Amino acid sequence: MNQDSVVYLNGAFQPLSEAKISVLDRGFIFGDGVYEFVPVYHRRPFRLAQHLKRLGNSLAAVGMVNPMSNAEWEKLFQEMIQRTPYEQQAIYLQVTRGVAPRDHPFPQGATPTVFMMANPLKLPTPEQVERGVACVSAEDFRWHRCDIKGISLMGNGLWRQVAVETGATETVLFRNDFLTEASSSNVFAVKNGTLLAPLRDNLILPGITYDAVLEFAPKIGMPVETRPVSRAEVFAADELWLTSSGKEVLAVTTLDNKSIGNGKPGPAFKKMWAHFQTQTAI
Ligand code: PDD
Repeated sequence: MNQDSVVYLNGAFQPLSEAKISVLDRGFIFGDGVYEFVPVYHRRPFRLAQHLKRLGNSLAAVGMVNPMSNAEWEKLFQEMIQRTPYEQQAIYLQVTRGVAPRDHPFPQGATPTVFMMANPLKLPTPEQVERGVACVSAEDFRWHRCDIKGISLMGNGLWRQVAVETGATETVLFRNDFLTEASSSNVFAVKNGTLLAPLRDNLILPGITYDAVLEFAPKIGMPVETRPVSRAEVFAADELWLTSSGKEVLAVTTLDNKSIGNGKPGPAFKKMWAHFQTQTAI
């Protein structure tokens, strides 16, 4: 992406260099907005209906009216994709509560700010897929509405930075000794061939990839248990996976420098990864 890249802001496509918002935008002042990140394969958005449903849920949860119908969102996605030169894209969209004098209560009659941009989709490298990645762990100290895809990502950024500074890919989070998710991914464990998924409750983001993996598991013959997963179970797991729109499914081979399973991506991961590829191919 460069200054000439086309972005969408409040009804108009324009070069990035010309897209401007007010400093009083509540997204800037309060982090008061929600977002989505949609992968696009071969110029087709992956699971757009599910992303739009989650967007609607996030907006409703924070008392904001959806500024567009699903049909209008779909049209906007198509136009963004057409205007962007990449076959594989990562489309980011953000809706904030709009511009208003700084005051905590919701402003009356503010128009939501709608922003969208497309970048090349950066998937894990073949080496990361082949060898797996290292992660670190930390205590999850976020609020209790992690199911809302809000733009206030202070905690997530802090943890991601911890990972980067230790040469790790992600920071896996535990709340009171139970697995929640990672700084920008969901996390699954595998034990004796069974997929262990943390509950899809208010303490994690209901990932579109998380749902896809749960849907694919029976197709590759994997039983699933959706239940609280303890820290001890994570460290004793045969396999540990990250999932997200940018990572697809990625094997974690060490956590806090301790090997997960035999320290290599496991057979269940390989099957799930291969199945995932069939879903995103032309
Ligand atoms: N992040 N959990 C958190 C905290 C996330 O930020 C994400 C995704 C996920 C996975 O959700 P999905 O499968 O729908 O991508 C889980 C995106 C990619 C981001 O913030 O850029």
